[in-house]
Amino acid sequence: MGNLKVAVGSDHGGFEYKEAVIDFLKSKNIEYTDMGTYTQDSCDYPVIAKKVCEKILAGEADRGILICGTGIGMSIAANKIKGIRASVCGDTFSARATRAHNNSNLLCLGQRVIGESLALDIVDMWLKTDFEGGRHQRRIDMIE
Ligand code: RB5
Repeated sequence: MGNLKVAVGSDHGGFEYKEAVIDFLKSKNIEYTDMGTYTQDSCDYPVIAKKVCEKILAGEADRGILICGTGIGMSIAANKIKGIRASVCGDTFSARATRAHNNSNLLCLGQRVIGESLALDIVDMWLKTDFEGGRHQRRIDMIE
């Protein structure tokens, strides 16, 4: 996971966890881009979701992490964009499974839903789990 490039973003509702995720990525020497928001002021999550998704689709990031109050708004916005497979996770089992089976390229977290330590464990699991391919690729092809 050391050579992954990760684009990170949040709205005001996920701002504190975005900073914590960035600290985590730094501690693991993972390259990241901070796509905002950069203050606690209220902002619109679809704007940030689009920026992070575009970074992935342009090949400038391998994966993205988006955080809002629930993770849900970010995931709804991101999953409208072709090529994005966004997963809201509130547990490490789902984080592992969505990488292994769905080749999730975007993790969404809810700052108002889960604690920070769990959020970082989820990030860790999601980043280090590889896609299993095989029958799972066939199913992703069906979605695409
Ligand atoms: C902002 O108040 C909140 O609606 C947003 O962070 C997110 O939870 C939306 O899904």
